[in-house]
Parts: sequence; C-alpha cells; structure tokens
Amino acid sequence: MNRSLLSSALLLSLAAAPGFAAVNGDLAAGRAKAPMCAGCHGANGIGISAEFPNLAGQKADYLSKQLHAFRDGSRVEPTMKAMASALSDEDIANLAVYFASLERSPAKVAKAAPAASAKPTAREFPHATFITMKKSGTVETFPDETVWRGGPNMLYDAVTPDGSKLLATSPSSNTVYVFDIASGGQLAVIPVGKAPKGVKVSPDGRFAWVSNQGSGNLSVIDLASLKVIDTIEVGAGPHNARFTRDGKLAYVTLQGGAGLAVVDTTTRKMVRVIPIPGITGPHNLDLSQDEKTAFVRDFVHHVAVLDIASGEVRKVITVGNGHGGIDVLPDGRHAVTAAIGDDIVTVIDTQTLETRDIKVGKGPHGVRASSDSRWIYVTLTKDDQVVVIDASTLRVVKRIGVGKFPFWVAVPGNP
Ligand code: HEC
Repeated sequence: MNRSLLSSALLLSLAAAPGFAAVNGDLAAGRAKAPMCAGCHGANGIGISAEFPNLAGQKADYLSKQLHAFRDGSRVEPTMKAMASALSDEDIANLAVYFASLERSPAKVAKAAPAASAKPTAREFPHATFITMKKSGTVETFPDETVWRGGPNMLYDAVTPDGSKLLATSPSSNTVYVFDIASGGQLAVIPVGKAPKGVKVSPDGRFAWVSNQGSGNLSVIDLASLKVIDTIEVGAGPHNARFTRDGKLAYVTLQGGAGLAVVDTTTRKMVRVIPIPGITGPHNLDLSQDEKTAFVRDFVHHVAVLDIASGEVRKVITVGNGHGGIDVLPDGRHAVTAAIGDDIVTVIDTQTLETRDIKVGKGPHGVRASSDSRWIYVTLTKDDQVVVIDASTLRVVKRIGVGKFPFWVAVPGNP
C-alpha cells in the first residue's frame, strides 16, 4: 500500500468510528429534556455544587460520548448510569447539542439570576430539629442554635428514639459521625462503606443502618459499641432506608435503578427487590401510616405510589425538578416532597393522590414534619434557610437563616 492510500484508509476508518462522528441533535428537543438534569447540573448547565460537573458550553461530541459511556457501563458511575439508561440515542444527541449551546461562564449566569431572597424574619423553631449543613461541615440544632463541628459534607442525619445520640453521614470521607445530643460532643467517627448517604436508626434504638451508595451495601452500626457489626449487600446505589414500625423489615431505595430492596432485619439479608417502573433512580422514601404503600421519590421529578404487597405502581406523580426528601406526616394525611432544582415542595393527599405545590424558596431538599404533624420543616440549600410550614394551612409561617447548604433535617419522633 502506498503512503497516500494508507492515509486515506486511515481517514475513512476514523470517520466511521462512532466516537468521532459529529453529534447531530435537535436543540429544542434537548431543552425540553434538560429539566431532568437540572437537579444536579443546574438549570443553566452549571453544576449546583462541587460534585456535579458543568455541562454548559462543553463540546457536544464529548457530552454525547460520556452519556453513551455511562449508559453502556464503560464509564462507571451509578447515578449517571441510571440517568443515561433512561435516554435514547436521540435524547443523548439532543441533550448534547443543547448543553453545548449554553453560556459556560457561571458569572454571567449568576448576574441574570434573581436577587437573593429576603433576610430571615424569625429565629425560633417550634420543636427540636437537627440540620446538617453540607458546606459548613456542621450540624446545627434548633431552637438552641448550637453548632456541632462534624466532617466534610455532612449529609443525612438521624436521631436515636431516646433522643440521646445523633448520627450524620460524611460521604466524602466514608464515615459516620456520632454526637452526644445533651453535650453536642463527638462520640465517634465510624468508617463505613463508600459514599454513605442515608442513615436510619432501628425502632428499638439498637442499630443504625447506613446506605453506602458507592459500594452497594448497608453498614449496620451497633449503637452500644459504636462499631460496624455487619454489612448487607443490596445492589447498586442504595440511598436511604425506612424501617417498619415493628422493626422487622427495612425498605431501601436503590438509586442505581433496580427499585426498592426489602431487607429482613433479623437475618440481615435482602429478601427481594420490588422494581418501580416509571421513575428514574429511587432516591428517598416513606411509608403510608398502615405501611402498605410506599411513596418513593426519584432523583428527577417523580413520586411513585407503590403498593408493597402486589408490587403494583398505583400512580407516578410529577413533582418539582431535581432530587429531594419525602415525608409522610405522622398523621398519615399528607406526603410532602422537596425538589432541589426548584423552589417548591409538593404536598400529596395520601388518599386522593391530588397534589398542591407550595412555593418555599430556592433549592429545597430536606423535609420532615414534627412528631405531632403540626409543622413541616424544609431546608433550602441555595437560600441557606429553613422554612417552617403550618401543616393545617399549608402556608409558610417562618423563615430562618442557618449555616451553609442546609441539606437534611432530623426531627425526634419522626424517623
Ligand atoms: C442526581 C444527580 C445527577 C443528575 C440528575 C444528572 N447527573 Fe450527570 N452527573 C452527575 C454526577 C455526580 C456526575 C459526575 C460523574 C463522575 O464523577 O464520573 C455527572 C456527570 C455527567 C456528565 C459527564 C461530564 C464530564 O465532564 O465528564 C454528563 C455529560 C452528564 N452528567 C450529563 C447529564 C445529563 C444530560 C443529565 C440529564 C439527562 C444528567 N447528567 C443528570 C450527576 C447527575
């Protein structure tokens, strides 16, 4: 083969390789799909926090290649695997073209955003609450306003039923911090699996279960010895758990996409996985008062209403954009879910499944009602505030300034 023939053969084979084909997508169709990405990559394609890369202004070919790689598993990341699995080849091309068209400078984007919201107007909380501040690496307690220093990126937290200990996960250091509630002192920093997210305490107060999203398992912490005594394999991307009141079962959201894991707490083995078609990446959950129905929040903008015994999805409800917490109020009448890429919480009537949106402020994620179901607390990750909603009128009655990036709220009596 002479030299010119060789080089033209090379060129031909390059052009035919799929990785090198220029992306040909429809910008408007991409824009229409993009809200499902806003919860993490921002409404303007600028990641909402350090772990989420900017997509705005990135080259379309590169974006397309990454999305294909997440989907076929050659680039390994459970969250993006679940996201990309929901996309067709066309969706990928459209999204790549859309994000490539956006302004890449966050400064310009920030200028266009509305002015910061009003200053907090009140500083009391009706009941004790414990709020993790992701960016400050602290837990703040209210109404006494003490600040406990924890580890990097304090994320989810939980209170023991006797109110003596508080646990908070630090996914970037693969540990769980344990605090003594009376003194605020740090009792232990316990190494667990990779990227621990949700932490829940068993109803008998003896164990804390930690969902290790990065390692596909749960760490069981014995709260007397403050040591991990067992590890339960559950599958890709466990994010958070909910125990039944009798403590016999735990349901665990598998954000990798498989559905809801059912774990027997006596044998500490997963007994089955209930698939949840119609939602993308089960993220947080709560149970109806009779514990027959699971309300499962995904990380895009849906709540699936799942009949646990039959595995039937009764309804998929569209809620605000982005991932968030979900709480069925202890009185069982309403479920409330937040949406980090949005400015609303959605209240679901647990009987009729009708919804109502309440405007709360920017970046709502954590949501929990007081044990008497009178107040609903919502953390606003972008406004650095907590709002208190009166559950009987569904109106915001208080707005309280807190630390940086309030992520989750633990409330005694409503695990
Ligand atoms: C729940 C959060 C979340 C959502 C929703 C999400 N992503 Fe991601 N995305 C991530 C994370 C985290 C990474 C970084 C992955 C890694 O570390 O490898 C990422 C990475 C990416 C990358 C690779 C960027 C790079 O620079 O290599 C692309 C492309 C991407 N996401 C596109 C999307 C698109 C398109 C959507 C919507 C269809 C979307 N993502 C929705 C969390 C999310």
